[in-house]
Amino acid sequence: MKTPNLLRRCFTLALLSILILGLPASAQPPDTLWLSLDEPAYRLLQKISPTRWPLATGEVAAIEESDVAARYDKVHVVHVSAFERDQLAQAVHVALNRCAGFVAHDSLADALSVLTPATGGFTPTRPDYVIAHAARVTPMLATVSDARIGTDIQTLAAFHNRYYYASSGTQSADWLAQYWETIAAGRSDVQVTKVYRGSDAMPSVVLTVQGSDLTEQILVLGAHLDSINSYGSGSISSRRAPGADDDASGVASLTEVLRAIVEHDLRPRRSIQFMAYSGEELGLYGSDYIAADYRTREVDVVGMLQLDMTNYKGSVEDIFIIDDYTDAQQNGFLVQLAQHYLPQLTVAHTACGYGCSDHRSWNRQGYAASFPFEARMNEDNPYIHMINDTWETVGSQALHAQKFARLALAWLVELAGDGGLWEGFGDGFEDSETDS
Ligand code: BES
Ligand code: ZN
Repeated sequence: MKTPNLLRRCFTLALLSILILGLPASAQPPDTLWLSLDEPAYRLLQKISPTRWPLATGEVAAIEESDVAARYDKVHVVHVSAFERDQLAQAVHVALNRCAGFVAHDSLADALSVLTPATGGFTPTRPDYVIAHAARVTPMLATVSDARIGTDIQTLAAFHNRYYYASSGTQSADWLAQYWETIAAGRSDVQVTKVYRGSDAMPSVVLTVQGSDLTEQILVLGAHLDSINSYGSGSISSRRAPGADDDASGVASLTEVLRAIVEHDLRPRRSIQFMAYSGEELGLYGSDYIAADYRTREVDVVGMLQLDMTNYKGSVEDIFIIDDYTDAQQNGFLVQLAQHYLPQLTVAHTACGYGCSDHRSWNRQGYAASFPFEARMNEDNPYIHMINDTWETVGSQALHAQKFARLALAWLVELAGDGGLWEGFGDGFEDSETDS
């Protein structure tokens, strides 16, 4: 069963060339691009194109750990054609029996920024990882509804696909922005924006809940909105890609967290941003764009949590903390939160082995990112990136996703309240009834 798992992931990159055929002129992906790639992938590229010498070589922290010596990977930057990129993706899959090993960039500057230590000169605020808001969190957890998560998964999966270069992808983003606006209607401290990457048509959707007094400090709760079908015939942009688990489940989970905040009229001290990224499946496009911009502007993101695949229970344990390209301290806090608020659940650890989702974009920029995942690696949903990644193939229910919505909610409410140490804020939140 190892091969299908790898296949479905690797074909994301390997088949990108095919999509070019089915695109309107304005949405053509670039013919040449820059890759940042690790040593094994670079050796393969040398076999494919011996003259593609590195433009730069450096070292990148492979795992962020607070009290253990950091590990580094050698990373090269090369300029290639889209065709070479596709050949490399195929070769990585066949020769190394794994995925990725490289990331595609559409500018040299962007590729080189991978080699630049991101934290130099700017250190985001470290929150206190304390559990201090049980009175707020516990009643909120009780209302987290698997039924509503399920409804949203089905609505998202009903778009023909949410592919980055397909009109239905753009439509899904427009729909989600409207949907979030409706949920938050009446809250003057909430704003929904669409973030476009250059002239690309499909935006990431960002909802901001403005913090009351620690306004400049931001908690980011993310999932990716786009989907992909790396198999089947026809142009990739026209293929049916329900992406019910990957990653409608994550978007639906964080939408339920948003609903809880509105229903319980939570007025957070820190600002909160819900982000539904586009272009994740093509190389973390949406999150990379936002995280790099935030790093440049020194936006103080105190923590980010990624939800990507939450609704397939493939392992005995419930929640898996991804240990690579994430923050060890914040991961420890997630385990504590689960033990405290969700004691009936079991938590275990696993790793992707590469930057497999949007947490990597934030981790790369020096922000504390975490990624609780649905199963042990290789026991996860076998249907992702296929036409069968549907609501039905997970048993038409959202009970697993509900656990992740609860964990994310506990993380968000605890950190948004900052331990309640601020004078005049009681347990850390303004009493909305005294607002006028
Ligand atoms: N949700 C997947 C990542 C994933 C799959 C994590 C299975 C854990 C288990 C994500 O949407 C994805 O497909 N990512 C790409 C990498 C990206 C940089 C293009 C992948 O894994 O190939
Ligand atoms: Zn995904």
